[in-house]
Amino acid sequence: MGVEICVEGLTKSFGHQVIWQDVSLTLPAGEVSVLLGPSGTGKSVFLKTLVGLLKPDRGSVRVAGRDITTLREHELYEVRKLFGVLFQDGALFGSMNLYDNIAFPLREHTRKSESEIRRIVLEKMDMVGLIGAEEKLPGEISGGMRKRAGLARALVLDPEVILFDEPDSGLDPVRVAYLNQLIVDLNAQIDATFLIVTHDIASARQVPDNIGLLFRRELVMFGPREKLLTSDEPVVRQFLNGRMQGPIGMAEEKDAAQVEQELAQLGDSARAETPGSRELTPRLLPGPGITRPPRWQAIARREAEPHRRREVADA
Ligand SMILES: Nc1ncnc2c1ncn2[C@@H]1O[C@H](COP(=O)(O)OP(=O)(O)OP(=O)(O)O)[C@@H](O)[C@H]1O
Ligand SMILES: [Mg+2]
Repeated sequence: MGVEICVEGLTKSFGHQVIWQDVSLTLPAGEVSVLLGPSGTGKSVFLKTLVGLLKPDRGSVRVAGRDITTLREHELYEVRKLFGVLFQDGALFGSMNLYDNIAFPLREHTRKSESEIRRIVLEKMDMVGLIGAEEKLPGEISGGMRKRAGLARALVLDPEVILFDEPDSGLDPVRVAYLNQLIVDLNAQIDATFLIVTHDIASARQVPDNIGLLFRRELVMFGPREKLLTSDEPVVRQFLNGRMQGPIGMAEEKDAAQVEQELAQLGDSARAETPGSRELTPRLLPGPGITRPPRWQAIARREAEPHRRREVADA
């Protein structure tokens, strides 16, 4: 069973540059949450702060009740065993083959025998479709394979929390579909708490229980996916519709006057919605033969009741 992560009043800056401020959210135990946001809004910085790789200026990150921002290095080392992290660039060791890369956390953090390690590594490699590539070096394989190797490595310690930084970037649409199914199946099987950073709106619609959006140094919204997908917030609408017009600009943000001017010039077309962009796409379900944890019964009930979905959206 995953653990809850409770973030309160979190602020992070580098020198004079404030990355985000006063971020509060709770990742419910065992649920899947997605974090969206324009490039450069600090999503990767947020994930690194959750595992204690970066120290926030203010605020707390409670993992299973312990505030990790106040822990000493050796205590943090223990808490980190609860986490599996898939970094944005895969973060594999270039001189180690895939087998040794994936075995690394087991050799570093456990006293398991090499035969036990072999069993776990091959099981995870099979899970992500990498059997046969054990001897390959990271430089010899495709970007998609590197992502999957990073994912296998994030899984070997049976983590309570898994953080995925853009697991789908650089993958073709078919691979993204497989990856999404893999994520949903994994969550049902190991029941860990998941946080996924992605730019893929289709994935964000189908996979998570909760969605959050970072924009202009703030967490604009975080809550059940129904709430965000049907929200009228202009930033949310622009992001979900992939429109150029709106508060989000090329340099990440525009000033309010510029946005108003643009919207006035374009009239109604600037507010046009892509057909179906407010619809609640059905959730991706765990594949056949995978036992669903009890919370799936609640999800199934919620999905089956359209009137209730509206209530949640209005809440
Ligand atoms: N170690 C660091 N020192 C100084 N500045 C940093 C550091 N790490 C990140 N930043 C800055 O923090 C900001 C947010 O970076 P981050 O990588 O978290 O963005 P992101 O939302 O993950 O973007 P993308 O979607 O492109 O991956 C950037 O301006 C970046 O330059
Ligand atoms: Mg990033």
